[in-house]
Amino acid sequence: MSGRDNHDLAVRVRGLTRRFGERAVIDTLDLDIRKGEFVALIGASGCGKSTLLRILADLDHGITGEVRVPRRRAVAFQAPRLMPWKSVWRNVTLGLPGGDHRGRAEAALAEVGLSHRSDVWPKVLSGGEAQRTSLARALVRDPDLLLLDEPFGALDALTRIKAQHLVAELWQRRRCAVLLVTHDVEEALLLADRVLVMREGVIARSIPVTLDRPRRLDNPVFAALRGELLDLLGVSEDVAGRRAA
Ligand SMILES: Nc1ncnc2c1ncn2[C@@H]1O[C@H](COP(=O)(O)OP(=O)(O)OP(=O)(O)O)[C@@H](O)[C@H]1O
Ligand SMILES: [Mg+2]
Repeated sequence: MSGRDNHDLAVRVRGLTRRFGERAVIDTLDLDIRKGEFVALIGASGCGKSTLLRILADLDHGITGEVRVPRRRAVAFQAPRLMPWKSVWRNVTLGLPGGDHRGRAEAALAEVGLSHRSDVWPKVLSGGEAQRTSLARALVRDPDLLLLDEPFGALDALTRIKAQHLVAELWQRRRCAVLLVTHDVEEALLLADRVLVMREGVIARSIPVTLDRPRRLDNPVFAALRGELLDLLGVSEDVAGRRAA
């Protein structure tokens, strides 16, 4: 790889291995993510997606191989993980270095449409609001790499669609690199520049999505890509359709 290519990368992983006991959950995995690129990661349950994300977030140190990530990175998980004894804005700035926490929290909360909730306790938030608070907590770190582990997994269908729009809009504005772990093939295709399929400890496939945004589910190219990804996951369109119905 040339120096120029390297310069364009937000994430560079080479030969990454993570073992739990005898089993290599991640097995000499390579991955590049360009600066500003939106990448979705799909794969069967237990294949190692969260493990990879935790490594990129620097939350797991039992690895071998090379991992380069930006200094400024932030992560949001499926569960919002808010501290019940701290107000919403204090949750947003928990552990944040530097000053003017209130001002920075307010700006991040405004970005996710939650200015009016800044002083309340987490217990009064709806599921979608709690998830947006978690997103604000990631954004306040002004990340060059945003790591999202099924952030919409626990939301109802309508709230989920709104949250997907919000993430698309935030990404258009900020242009940080994003790695989104999701179980939802349509979500991956609606949002990402590229969809990665993880299998047997490596990135088995990388599928570019060149469709214009905003994307439509009824676009025939979208439908073809959805079919291809479901095939790769070993799920037939029939079963996927029944589950969505
Ligand atoms: N700390 C740990 N100790 C032992 N095994 C672990 C640990 N963390 C993860 N694993 C194992 O590694 C495998 C991959 O887990 P991981 O959470 O990365 O899967 P995943 O792809 O995110 O799955 P899901 O889609 O269900 O969230 C699983 O078999 C899991 O049991
Ligand atoms: Mg997981």
